[in-house]
Amino acid sequence: MCGIVGYVGAREATEVVLHGLQRLEYRGYDSAGVAIYDPVIGLQLRRSVGKLSNLQQRLLNEPTHGHIGIGHTRWATHGGVTEINAHPHRDASGAIVVIQNGIVENYLALKGRLLELGYQFESQTDTEVIAKLLGHYYNELRDLGRAMHRTLQELRGGNAIVAFCIHEPDQLVAARLGNAGGIAIGIGNDERFIASDIPAILDYTRDLIFLEDRDIAVVRRDSVTIMRLDGTPVERPIHRIAWDPVAAAKGDYRHFMQKEIDEQPRALMDVLRGRIDQEHGRIELEDLRLNDHDLRRIRRIYATACGTAWHAALVAKFMIEHLARVRVEVDYASEFRYRNPILQSDSEHDTLVLAITQSGETVDTLAAMEEARAQGVPSVAIVNAIGSQAARLADGGPIYLHAGPEIGVASTKAFTSMLVAAYLFALRLAQAHGTLKPQQIREHIQALIELPGQAAQVIEQTKPLCIELAERYHRVSNALFLGRQINYPIALEGALKLKEISYIHAEGYPAGEMKHGPIALIDENMPVICIATHDHIYEKMISNIEQVRARHGQVIAIGHQGDELLAEKAHHVIGVPTTHPLLQPVLNVIPLQMFAYHVAVLRGCDVDQPRNLAKSVTVE
Ligand code: F6R
Repeated sequence: MCGIVGYVGAREATEVVLHGLQRLEYRGYDSAGVAIYDPVIGLQLRRSVGKLSNLQQRLLNEPTHGHIGIGHTRWATHGGVTEINAHPHRDASGAIVVIQNGIVENYLALKGRLLELGYQFESQTDTEVIAKLLGHYYNELRDLGRAMHRTLQELRGGNAIVAFCIHEPDQLVAARLGNAGGIAIGIGNDERFIASDIPAILDYTRDLIFLEDRDIAVVRRDSVTIMRLDGTPVERPIHRIAWDPVAAAKGDYRHFMQKEIDEQPRALMDVLRGRIDQEHGRIELEDLRLNDHDLRRIRRIYATACGTAWHAALVAKFMIEHLARVRVEVDYASEFRYRNPILQSDSEHDTLVLAITQSGETVDTLAAMEEARAQGVPSVAIVNAIGSQAARLADGGPIYLHAGPEIGVASTKAFTSMLVAAYLFALRLAQAHGTLKPQQIREHIQALIELPGQAAQVIEQTKPLCIELAERYHRVSNALFLGRQINYPIALEGALKLKEISYIHAEGYPAGEMKHGPIALIDENMPVICIATHDHIYEKMISNIEQVRARHGQVIAIGHQGDELLAEKAHHVIGVPTTHPLLQPVLNVIPLQMFAYHVAVLRGCDVDQPRNLAKSVTVE
């Protein structure tokens, strides 16, 4: 949730750190700070509440100089949003500065002990406990790497930490404990970078090392030395990241979300690239390290994810069960591990956990994958962020989305890419299980090939109506989204998009359930967005629309272009092209994203950084 950047090298550290923090703005935060060191000037600490521009303004008035530094954007967990609570935090001597992403779960106990030893605290944060502990052990060991080692042994929780000490001014110390967030170390020419998220440092280097849980790294301008928490030295591979940093820039768009909605046709092409063999009617998922034999054994899948990715998991259930006839259960990752799930039947190794995550760093999803591992069940991850923790934890390979960086907090292109990746996985499973013949797979491939073009059509043709509807309805206080079967998760997703960026209360419901309660909410002020593209229960959906009309609700329908019956029943119809019913959600969700976007803009909301939200949720 918090963003972390560090630098050591010949450049002005302030510039590199601020640039990185700017790149992390999308994570959402409430305050920011930097600590920069120069042997002549000394340690310079600047912190500000609010947007990064406040810190930038502060730095204009009180500039910092030096070639080593760290910076942080905070998303408050312990202690209110104040300058004193903003990072970096200092040890008692003021020589050590620390930034952290995560939560020190036992910080009260540690703080109590430190208070007894005579330490004083200026903030209410758990991070200051790390700073004080580091200082405490540094006094004894006179080596920050070793002090970090001792400190980590006392922390409980998930933490990504970066620190430096003015008595060792040529090195940063970074550590990772648990899954609170990643730490990437960028390798430059006689310079090193540290970041919680790759985009923060991509403009400087594409060569990155990722720290694993319980790694401690001493980072100098010309070396990176990594040690495990148990004291053994370890080498981590250097990954070359192929992303284009320009892709992360907003270009001519007003908001990243708008850009990412428009990027969907390209993203859908990229997720398919190299994975379909039209001639032989085959799906090739090379990154999936499971062969036909492994896949044939799978009889049960637990799909797990959070938020929008959980909606993708709900859609994946329909795809996998229909195409491969393999049973799928879907869990919120945050609930999964606490319900003591029974994953493996006694005798057969027939179960797989499917984790879906854009960032690959969502702590609950990672914990669900670890639960699978603890129970001896392999996991496959559908993930966007290259080299992320989920990608590395997956046994069956990450199925990368290749959607490029998603910066807007509200997920759009990653969601539709997840649906297509899940479809590919379902077809690959069907291929192994023999539930589909090559000719049938060929037909699905044809639908997939047409999908990016159809998505482009939806964007181009429905945008004006989405804007018009946003103008008409942006002042409402509530909205209801209805769908059935595979389009029920799309109703959930439409409601989530609207509520998270426009702060309008919105609910997604299975349309058939409406009469069991929510129908009481419907009156002439309630927009009811109904997903009514053709499938085997289209008529039932039409009946549900009639029920809404009878209560004077305002019906906005997503339906097929030219559907006259729907045009008669609904107040407004957003027409989308027809694809295979299992792929239809990909097209149906796009107008819902655009509607939410334009409503939020008209309400003057901060679309890319909605209040209280963060792009990757690395705390429980
Ligand atoms: C909503 C949204 C969130 C994320 C959720 C999981 O638009 O983006 O609900 O989907 O926090 O994030 P990832 O996919 O990174 O695990």
